[in-house]
Amino acid sequence: MNKIIEKKMLDFSNEETSLSETLFHNANGYIGVRGTLEEGVPGDYDTMRGMYINGFYDIIPMKQAENLCNFVEEKETMLNVADTQTIEVYADGERFSHFSGKTLSGKRILNMEDGITERTVIWESETGKKLNIDIKRMTSFHELSLFTIEYAVTAENFSGELEFKSYHKPKVRNYCNPKDPRLAAESHDHLKTIISCIENSISFAVTETEKSRLKCATAVAHEVNKSNARICTTEGEDNIITCDIIVPVKKGETVVVTKYSVFTDSLREKDPLTAGRNKLKRILDNGLNYYYGKQKEYLSRFFERAMMEIDGDEALNKAVNFNMYELLQSSAKDSHGNIAAKGLSGEGYEGHYFWDTEMFMLPFFVLTDPDLARMLLRYRYETLDKARENALLLGHKKGALYPWRTITGVECSGYFPSGTAQYHINGDIAYAIINYYLVTGDLEFINEWGEEILLETARLWLDAGNYVKGRFVLNDVTGPDEYTCMVNNNYYTNMVARHNLLWAARFYHMIKETASGKKLIKKIGIKEAEIKEMEEACKNMYLPYDEETGIIPQDDSFFSKPVWDLKKTPRENFPLLLHYHPLHLYRYQVCKQADTVMAFFLFDDAANKDTMLKSFRYYETITTHDSSLSKCAFSIVAAKLSLKDEAFSYFGNSAKLDLNNMHKNTKDGIHTANMGGCYMAVVYGFAGLKIGESGISINPFLPGKWTGYRFNICYHENNLHIDVKKDSVSVTLLSGSGTGITVCGKEFTLKEKETIEVNTNA
Ligand code: BGC
Repeated sequence: MNKIIEKKMLDFSNEETSLSETLFHNANGYIGVRGTLEEGVPGDYDTMRGMYINGFYDIIPMKQAENLCNFVEEKETMLNVADTQTIEVYADGERFSHFSGKTLSGKRILNMEDGITERTVIWESETGKKLNIDIKRMTSFHELSLFTIEYAVTAENFSGELEFKSYHKPKVRNYCNPKDPRLAAESHDHLKTIISCIENSISFAVTETEKSRLKCATAVAHEVNKSNARICTTEGEDNIITCDIIVPVKKGETVVVTKYSVFTDSLREKDPLTAGRNKLKRILDNGLNYYYGKQKEYLSRFFERAMMEIDGDEALNKAVNFNMYELLQSSAKDSHGNIAAKGLSGEGYEGHYFWDTEMFMLPFFVLTDPDLARMLLRYRYETLDKARENALLLGHKKGALYPWRTITGVECSGYFPSGTAQYHINGDIAYAIINYYLVTGDLEFINEWGEEILLETARLWLDAGNYVKGRFVLNDVTGPDEYTCMVNNNYYTNMVARHNLLWAARFYHMIKETASGKKLIKKIGIKEAEIKEMEEACKNMYLPYDEETGIIPQDDSFFSKPVWDLKKTPRENFPLLLHYHPLHLYRYQVCKQADTVMAFFLFDDAANKDTMLKSFRYYETITTHDSSLSKCAFSIVAAKLSLKDEAFSYFGNSAKLDLNNMHKNTKDGIHTANMGGCYMAVVYGFAGLKIGESGISINPFLPGKWTGYRFNICYHENNLHIDVKKDSVSVTLLSGSGTGITVCGKEFTLKEKETIEVNTNA
């Protein structure tokens, strides 16, 4: 039961309908389909009827009021690629809809073990015809191109005719909301249908984007469980293809229509149409049950690797599973894409990839599926050249600067003060690579790809910074907190830059004599003198500290600003970004999200415990948590500082953020980073996991009313099971060649299948 989310359909308002479209979306990392009602919603409803492909985009002009030198002129936007979800059902001519007749009962279900969403409905038409409807949807993890709808209708109290009108609409538009900067402001016709045809009732279409010239092919086929069904497929206006299925039914009879949609694209396939045709043929030969079986198998492996259970709080347990499942749904399974801020669940942030991936989502995959994590990091390697070009555009003479938000690696942020100026993205990517290495020991990745990224990002710091009185400073950057922009020496930025410089040099020494190391040195022309400069900058990195208060200021000028009066700010004025001019916000001490506090999570040596505690307490009073990336970071740091109640309370808020629509915008898509943050709050926060050069350690505690919790992680190819109980913690090596581990300060060596137990009260 803890992997099933159920929601009764009682409220058919616009708000609730859109929210359920997000919560019950299906995705597999390649395609994402919003949980839109097949039959549609009233015309005045403002919903997103979306189907997306990870990394599939078009290019649109970026409007700049004043086009200053090297401003971003174009941006990429993830496209809604087609509509193959629409199915209308008629009982003797009366059309099923929740907005006519009577919905006697209705439920939406997400079954995370089976990997399907389901809608079950009992509906009565205006003339009293009762239908029992069961609709199952799946985006297959086994065959990433495949989306299925299994639509079963039982004629409960009549004999007559059931009709299914199923559509394949190749040309669709994106959603827009000019009032919300987190969404696209204008709608545009990006797609042109270049091929559409019907072969033996199967429909095919190819669309091409206007500017990026990418092609998307869709192939749609239907199966019906009744041999007396009459099927007719025709093409109409705008290349909309309709498959009309008419079935005579007797009272109590069930008709099942299975709709298979296959998506392919020219990013991954030379000839997407042929690839789609071949895939569809194979899929039809295998049949739906084969894919249901494979889906279950895939998820059982996933939940074994990413197993996490909480005793004593069923709702949280469910929320935690939901968050991990959504991370899996959102993550690309190839390096053509990555993980968008909203996954593949909606159009918020236009399908862009941010630091969210490296700092919030990736740690989950590093610990539960290192191969996938490696691939996600590969994406950054694939886009390194574009980061080099970006650095040049920004006036740097060398190095690489990763874009703040992007799809293919080019900067897509139009407002540089809270976009491009967030140079910490470089340090975040470096941090993620180093963390991946420390958890997996995969030096090959460092040799082949990682060190090149680290050296180029480190070069950028050297170019961006300068020395003042012997201290290395980084001026005019923006930290993670977007309510404070363009500052000198943002503490978080300087900390990640320091780490980046340290490890770029350290790896250099580790690999310089190897064949691949030599190749890399030659390729990027790195000199020993530069490495020395990196070491020097690292050693002399300036880190702000306020002697008077014993608190770490977010940046050099932070404490010279007045404190924003959060108590007097009307509730309806949050999030502040939607109600106040940014410049006004910048002049106050007010934080959108964890910034300095986030650094305390990443670095044990950030400051001594007293400074961290004082600073944490201070930032608590001035942080709005308007960003969903905030509370999870506060939870982890609270746990680190032994503030157990606070850690638990921040965690509770972040774990159910989407399920309870706490930010009131889940309708635009899930908050993927928060989901990763919530996972980290358990393993790094409550369980006190630390993985560094000296090895792995845990130091867990039981939060709130929990009576126990357990999870699996992978460390250096060892699969560990960690079980925290009221008075003890045990660690079992499920598989692997063995590892040392420190548990509550005691050192152990674990062999395969061995369990160690430590009394946590001792
Ligand atoms: C946050 C950023 C984040 C972005 C995408 C913004 O609200 O301030 O830190 O990267 O959302 O999730």
